[in-house]
Order: sequence, then structure tokens, then C-alpha cells
Amino acid sequence: MLQVSHLNTQYKDGQGRVVKAAQDINIEVPKGKMFTLLGPSGCGKTTTMRSIAGMEKPTSGRITVNGKVVYCSSSGIFVAPNKRNFGMVFQSYAIWPHMNVFQNAAFPLEVGPRKFSRREIEERVMRVLTVVGLENIPDREATMLSGGQQQRLALARALVMEPELLLLDEPLSNLDAKLRERMRFELKRLQRDLGLTTIYVTHDQSEALALSHEIAVMSEGCILQIGSPRDIYERPANRFVADFVGLTNFIEGTVEAEASDGAYDVRTDIGMLKASAYENRKNGDRVLLSVRPEDVELSEAPPRGENVFTGTVDAKVFLGEVVDFQVRLGRRSLMARVHPSLKTPVSQPISVRINPEKCICIRPD
Ligand SMILES: Nc1ncnc2c1ncn2[C@@H]1O[C@H](COP(=O)(O)OP(=O)(O)OP(=O)(O)O)[C@@H](O)[C@H]1O
Ligand SMILES: [Mg+2]
Repeated sequence: MLQVSHLNTQYKDGQGRVVKAAQDINIEVPKGKMFTLLGPSGCGKTTTMRSIAGMEKPTSGRITVNGKVVYCSSSGIFVAPNKRNFGMVFQSYAIWPHMNVFQNAAFPLEVGPRKFSRREIEERVMRVLTVVGLENIPDREATMLSGGQQQRLALARALVMEPELLLLDEPLSNLDAKLRERMRFELKRLQRDLGLTTIYVTHDQSEALALSHEIAVMSEGCILQIGSPRDIYERPANRFVADFVGLTNFIEGTVEAEASDGAYDVRTDIGMLKASAYENRKNGDRVLLSVRPEDVELSEAPPRGENVFTGTVDAKVFLGEVVDFQVRLGRRSLMARVHPSLKTPVSQPISVRINPEKCICIRPD
């Protein structure tokens, strides 16, 4: 459906220096899927999105939508943004101040190329207003909405056309945590029900994991890894991805032996660890092991199996449904996220097991 290849977009800063905001971006989004650009502030997410929308003119590359070229540097094609028929919500959203909620959401239907009957407009508008939770105030003037309500209205207006491609740049950023979670759920359902091909931009990793079919993790203008939420979380390609997408423990080590397909013995300063790798490693390779806190298992009686150590509870934080433990193992400390039924007091000994399948070798970069 959407194909972006070798896309580069640059800006000039105040001093005339070139800012390479998007570098060699390659993405492919199948029809009906939700694809997320995830990364920290300034990594080039909005730039990539605006380049796809045609709001920014790239320096090179090629973009096709449904087989139709909308941008190609080598053949000089550039389709104007209003001719691309995408639905968009931008980080700085604008709604029409002289219209009420209903009129704002209905506007694209009234000015668009397709003619809709009154009843169709009414139906479609109320449907999207319900999705964003504004169905009770269709008559409210747009100037009387809170920031979060304006943002939801902007989203409703982008959805109402059921566009071929939906581009959403941090559409939930101004909402409180509860509402954001509800909208996440509703957005996902609507996206699935209508089969909307969607590019989603966020710096919030849990939002990306919850919503996406595929995620591209970006840093400094480049895509570092593309994969399903599970891939990105469980098989991060490098330190940046492991660190940005969730909490993790890093342990440096050296490969000592290959056990069997994909399993390695790694010497670390907490002892020998059995670990898994998705790329081949040689004896003597320096590696970084990444273990998520929920894969560090704690118990008072020593468990059986591999990767078992004895440590001391250094600190713990009660978070309601889980407890985070800091456990000291020799000179280092590991974070473990466990069920609150474990009540071992601080400074007491505790057994630690690291699941070898969840102890992942990544490039030490
Ligand atoms: N109009 C512009 N002129 C010059 N530099 C720009 C311009 N817009 C963005 N940049 C720079 O390009 C880089 C990427 O910016 P971009 O807005 O794409 O980041 P982002 O990932 O969307 O960040 P955020 O999460 O903060 O929205 C940044 O270094 C930014 O300062
Ligand atoms: Mg941005």
C-alpha cells in the first residue's frame, strides 16, 4: 500500500548548516495495517511523516501509495499534499474556531470530492464523535473546548473521510492517562474495523507496543530496527532499541562457548550466563546481554536450572500490581519485576534466576 524508499529530508538551520532530519528511510506498510514511527524527541518522526504527506519536500527518494508515485526525486514527481487524499492529524492540530464540534467533524465531507446526503453525514460524524468521546457535545463551539477535546476533534475530522492513508502525529499527546488508554483502544478498533492503513507517530513506547502491527524505532534521523511489537521488545537489535523500548538490565560479557543453536555461554562479572542470540557469535566476542526486569525471577528457596545466583535485596518499590526489586549480585545490581506476593525484606538474601531464552546477546555498540 505505502512504500517509502531511500527517503532523505534535510533542513537548513539558522546558521545555514544542513540538518539531516530523515536519512535513508525505507518502510513498507501493507493495506489495513498500523505502522508506527517510534523514537525520542528530535529523531525525525514528524519530518518523515510530513515528507510522506507532501508537506515537506524531501531531498531524495521515492514514495508510492497503492502503486501510484506521489514523490520521486529521479523523475521529478511531486504530488501536492491536497491531491494525496490522506487523513492527517498533526502535532500542532488546527480546528476551525468559528464552527461547532459537529460542523468541524463534518467539514471534510462537505468540501470533499464525494457528495454525501444529510443522513450519511449525520451518521458518519456521530460515529467518529463517539469514537473520540465527543458525541454528547456536538453543538459546543470549538473555542470552548479543552486542549484534549480539541485534539480529539482533530482526530475525528481526520477519521471521518475514512481516508486511504491516515497519518497521525502524536494524536493522543494532550490527553490524561486514563483517556489516552481508552482512546488507544477505540482507535485500534476503528482502525481494524475500517481497515485503515495508518502511520502513527509517538515517542511513547507503550502506546507503540499496544497499537502497532509494526514499529520502526528511530534515532538521529535513521531507522534502527523494524519489527512487530514483540520482536522489538523481545529481540532488540542494539542497545538503543533495548533501552528505549521498555526497561532492561544490561550486562557486559564475553562469549566463551557456543552451546547449541543460538545458545551461548557468556562470561560476565556476575558469573557464567547462558544466553540466546539471533546473530552468530564467535568465542571471544564482546557482547552486551539484555534482560527485561520481568525475566529476572526471584524466589526465597533456590530454584533448579541454569543461570541461578544468590543475591541480596538492595531496595524495593511497591507499584500495586507488581513490585520492583533491586538485587545486588557481587558488584552489580539487577532490577527484577515480580508479583507482590514476594515479600523478602531489604538486606535479606534472595535467589535469582535469569531465563536463558530471555537473556539476549546484542551488539555492544
Ligand atoms: N523547519 C525546520 N528547520 C530546521 N530544522 C528542523 C525543522 N524542523 C525540524 N528540524 C530539525 O530536524 C530534526 C528532526 O525533527 P522532527 O520534528 O522530525 O523530530 P520528531 O522526532 O518529530 O521530534 P518530537 O518528538 O519532539 O516531535 C530536529 O533536529 C529538528 O530540530
Ligand atoms: Mg514531532
